Amino acid sequence: LPREIFVTRVNSAGVDIADRDVQADVLAKVDALKTRSWLATPTVLAGEGGEEHDVFSPIDTSDVVGTALYPTSDDVDLAITRAVTAQRRWDAVGGITRADILEAAADGLEANTIEFISLCRREAGKTIIDAILEIREAVDFLRFYASEARMQFAAPVPLPGPTGEQNRLHLSGRGVFATISPWNFPLAIFVGPAAAALAAGNTVVAKPAEQTPLIAAHAVKVMHEAGIPNDVLQLLPGGGEVGGMITSDPRIAGVAFTGSSATARAINRSLAARDGGIATFIAETGGQNAMIVDSSALPEQVTRDVVASSFQSAGQRCSALRVLYLQEDVADTMLHMIKGAFEALDIGDPADLPTDVGPVIDEEAKEKLDDHVDTMRQRGFKVWQRELPEITQKGSYVAPTIIEINSIEDLDQENFGPILHVVRFKGTELDKIIDEINSTGYGLTLGLHSRIDGTRQLVESRARVGNFYVNRNQIGAVVESQPFGGEGHSGTGPKAGGPHYVARFATERVITIDT
Ligand code: SER
Repeated sequence: LPREIFVTRVNSAGVDIADRDVQADVLAKVDALKTRSWLATPTVLAGEGGEEHDVFSPIDTSDVVGTALYPTSDDVDLAITRAVTAQRRWDAVGGITRADILEAAADGLEANTIEFISLCRREAGKTIIDAILEIREAVDFLRFYASEARMQFAAPVPLPGPTGEQNRLHLSGRGVFATISPWNFPLAIFVGPAAAALAAGNTVVAKPAEQTPLIAAHAVKVMHEAGIPNDVLQLLPGGGEVGGMITSDPRIAGVAFTGSSATARAINRSLAARDGGIATFIAETGGQNAMIVDSSALPEQVTRDVVASSFQSAGQRCSALRVLYLQEDVADTMLHMIKGAFEALDIGDPADLPTDVGPVIDEEAKEKLDDHVDTMRQRGFKVWQRELPEITQKGSYVAPTIIEINSIEDLDQENFGPILHVVRFKGTELDKIIDEINSTGYGLTLGLHSRIDGTRQLVESRARVGNFYVNRNQIGAVVESQPFGGEGHSGTGPKAGGPHYVARFATERVITIDT
């Protein structure tokens, strides 16, 4: 292929919120949107649609951010029928045209930065900084998968070999992909899998998390305006029931899901039980992510990275640190410094720039996390917890918490919020703790703070995790540089933002012509 069809891609610059003028302008514009009412409706309806659901803000549960109209089973059926019909056309336009359109969608998202910051804050409780990072990630996914479409889907690949025939490999869409996305990255992980499926030539029915349909609806609007036809990308807001209607339909060729391991298993069962072709299933799920800190680590760096990994985004990242292993000799010093930084965390309204920790997603999540802390107290573990300021009473806030435990085996589930568990270990126990971490069956992120090469090599060779971070925090994987995703209970792969992701959404055909 001529090299000029490839574009040099750079990651999104985002918004320079440290610049005072930019900051004042962004905050004023975001503030102006604070009472706007948003709507999420299925892209096509067979009739009047189904139930209406108000969407409440986790910051202030009396703030109704908007309304989502859920589809009926007839609506879902019609959406899939249209997606089936549209797929051949979309596949036939080729990788270069699809890339052009996805890049236009990336520009569209950037042009809607203020709307998305406002929505990320009100609907998902994100801080301004997290919202800016999230928009950048969504834009990067679109541009990166567009560049993959240019490279892999523009033309068939001639295959070498001794057969004396002409052989070529064609990549094309599998059919209709369902994307089922989470509330913790309501824009980036809504847009990312859909963009990859579209880049590969599939049509998409996209079901966002029931907590965050409004951000998704705005993203779909922007993507349609950028040139993705309505039948090619369709929104289906709803909860598990709508998800079930989609995944049980035999015309769905594949599902890209991000969420809990339990839901991933349920979807997999539903796909296996239906008639039709064997579906492709891509799942990115949870983790019981650990960080190991030995006595050679730099305390200030550890403090900064532990606090960011555990409490940024209120601990609601799949990558977030849940269990910190501190080598006994330095544990008291490290814990003292970590607690100092923990005491200084600013908890409050994510619209205020200094806020470090906003709310969790909803009351159900809050209750579950609060219950966990109560249980750990009752079991006799030592608990440090921040007082919540008055303002947080209006929303679903969980007090940032540190709990000292004996082993990762004291935890029976992932606790998806601002809760850090700490375990002390002896320098001779490194192998044992790697075994313990591996035996959780999860394998998403692992952090290590150590200046000893041999330790790094040992952990690197033995840990069964998708993303291993050394001497830094363990969140915020960068598209293309740090492809993200885990193994075991943490997911199927391929890695989001990585070189093999888009190809997994494609089918391969080989044409052989005897010359
Ligand atoms: N991609 C996100 C991160 O790396 C996942 O939660 O933090």
